[in-house]
Amino acid sequence: MSDSLSPLTQVWTPLTIGTMTVKHRIMVTGHTQLYGKDEIISDRHIAYYQERARGGAALLVLEQQAVHPAGMNYHAGCIAWERRVIPQYEKLAAAVHQFGCKQFVQLFACGTQGKGTMYIDHWRPLWAASRVPSVIYNETPMVMEQEQIDEILKGFGESAVNAQLAGIDGVEVHAAHSQLLGEFLSPVFNKRTDRYGGSVRNRCQFVIEIGEAIRKRVGSEFTLGLRLSFDEFLGTAGITPEQAEEQLEIFAATGLFNFFNISGGGYHTLHVAVAPMGSVPEGFMVPFGKRAKDVVGERARVFIVGRIIDVRMAEQILVDGAADMVAMTRAHMADPFIVNKSREGREDEITRCVGANVCIGRLIDNVEVTCVMNPVMGRERQWGEGSLKRVAQGGAKKIAVIGGGPAGLKCAAVAAKRGHKVTLYEQTSELGGHLNLLKRLPTRAGWQAAIDNLARPLEKAGVEVRLQTVATTDLIVDEQPDIVICATGASYDRTGYSPYRIDRETIPGVAQSYVLDIADAVQKAHADVTSLGKRVLILDETDGYLPLGLAEMLANGGGHVEVITPHLFVGEDTLKTLEMPHLFPRLKAAGVTLSAQQFIEAITDHQVEIHDIWGGERRTVTVDTVILAMMRSPNDALFHDLRSSFKAIHRIGDAVAPRKLEAVIYEGEKMGREV
Ligand SMILES: Cc1cc2nc3c(=O)[nH]c(=O)nc-3n(C[C@H](O)[C@H](O)[C@H](O)COP(=O)(O)O)c2cc1C
Ligand code: SF4
Repeated sequence: MSDSLSPLTQVWTPLTIGTMTVKHRIMVTGHTQLYGKDEIISDRHIAYYQERARGGAALLVLEQQAVHPAGMNYHAGCIAWERRVIPQYEKLAAAVHQFGCKQFVQLFACGTQGKGTMYIDHWRPLWAASRVPSVIYNETPMVMEQEQIDEILKGFGESAVNAQLAGIDGVEVHAAHSQLLGEFLSPVFNKRTDRYGGSVRNRCQFVIEIGEAIRKRVGSEFTLGLRLSFDEFLGTAGITPEQAEEQLEIFAATGLFNFFNISGGGYHTLHVAVAPMGSVPEGFMVPFGKRAKDVVGERARVFIVGRIIDVRMAEQILVDGAADMVAMTRAHMADPFIVNKSREGREDEITRCVGANVCIGRLIDNVEVTCVMNPVMGRERQWGEGSLKRVAQGGAKKIAVIGGGPAGLKCAAVAAKRGHKVTLYEQTSELGGHLNLLKRLPTRAGWQAAIDNLARPLEKAGVEVRLQTVATTDLIVDEQPDIVICATGASYDRTGYSPYRIDRETIPGVAQSYVLDIADAVQKAHADVTSLGKRVLILDETDGYLPLGLAEMLANGGGHVEVITPHLFVGEDTLKTLEMPHLFPRLKAAGVTLSAQQFIEAITDHQVEIHDIWGGERRTVTVDTVILAMMRSPNDALFHDLRSSFKAIHRIGDAVAPRKLEAVIYEGEKMGREV
């Protein structure tokens, strides 16, 4: 085994945290997956964590576990205060310990960041430090009195004992991200005038009492720490780094805590806490780690997080004395084996997190979390390490995969890894399909890393790639493959058909030469940003990044751009992926007009008539170009042609039905495993 990262001296050294020792310095912070069953972590969870332990991580923090019914905020979220959680915690501890990995549990209460009517069996008012509703949930909470404070204190104590009894290695109290304890610490959320509010010291009081309540139950030997937001990114209104330093001094002086896990942001600034592609420099919170270490000294360990996706950066952070442990959280969602691969000189095999934020988008949607780059995430029980079945001796088939987009790439690599002889046909000169459109937009160069993630394994698996090869029926028939897989993708619809106007099949005037689909428009604008003229109208029904990124590109090039959508607001999906708060200020600054709940009535001679979907007056705008980002249609003609020539023929991805990226990559993986 080569050890190409052997010059890395710090990252592979063990660390003592309280009374326990981790084998090296790379960890994974808590991240909610919504895999819970009956409010308890499920076997899906355990398989997920075990895979990261097997992959080499030194320390894993289990996703937030509520300490009280008033603390729960997601369906399929989990609790910790009842004894019935212990068996699954035991199973989790055993599963990760097998690989020399340590496991903490994160304990929390949601405060104002939830919905009081989420669980039908216990509707309740939200409990919060003060009467400050969540910017996301917008529900006025009840201000906690001593009775509720005591209940929460008891819940933390009970929950920590459960973790300890189960053989979990430590407990992290979640006091970051403007959940309940983060609210108590924050001047934005805590307006109290009693002993829990008013000064930095008073705002720390509740967290200190929680530390004391836990210590009383688990003793001084059990590892205990805090997760804190070092900056709420709300200017002087919120927790500032200077206040965080004061808080840290107060907490460190109590001697209650063995570690401080430094994060940043809250519900107003989740887009910084879980920063998407192209929005922040990698390791952007590292200076917070350094400042935290300067305050804490040797009294406790400091962990740092924030878009760290490479072990070399972790090494540098440690060398610079900016943390004791480095968290690479989404990096482990994308590739559970990132540590072992880095350590063993197999960095070229790492599937890198690209910051697409499909993961957090799914959490915000309240559905089970997975990673767009890693369809195995959450499916480790079926598809985890060692599950790929090699084809039997003599059973290898000659497979033609047609289309080098995400589904085709994934399918080809997986099928070839199993031993099949795979040829991939791609008609253009580059692999990646529609990701090549995205990567051409401002700040989106990171999509090339996604293409690399998908394309890199082809060579190792022995896939023969034929670029600039149009796979005609004749060509494929001549090649005589045993199996044909059509991954021919989809094309943007130019008919103007919209589910918003089911009374008609088209938009009158849509056939004009200055009406383009979004794919053509991106290509043209990329070649010459002025080629679409000065005045551009984009009709968006995708809710995604592509039309907005094009709007930004055109506006930066001097164009006057308006984006309209019939939907409730423009770019809905970019809110879930936390891209909106980064992108929209740029769009506004560039002068892009965003108009929701509007649709095109007709296009005539560079005039576009626009109607509001609720009625009222119509308006007409003069344009050089109209761009349609509407439905897509499968490119399935070849599939239907080839069907009469091949018995073993399949189609996958957008060629079946155009869908989101994560769905088509999943389908590529599935076909690659089953074929
Ligand atoms: C899907 C998802 C769920 C998360 N859930 C939690 C959570 O339960 N508790 C928490 O403290 N942080 C949570 N986070 C934040 C992460 O712990 C981490 O701080 C964040 O992903 C930034 O680190 P990274 O850039 O290494 O991914 C979550 C992040 C993601 C992407
Ligand atoms: S979905 Fe995107 S951001 Fe989330 S872990 Fe996967 S690659 Fe990273």
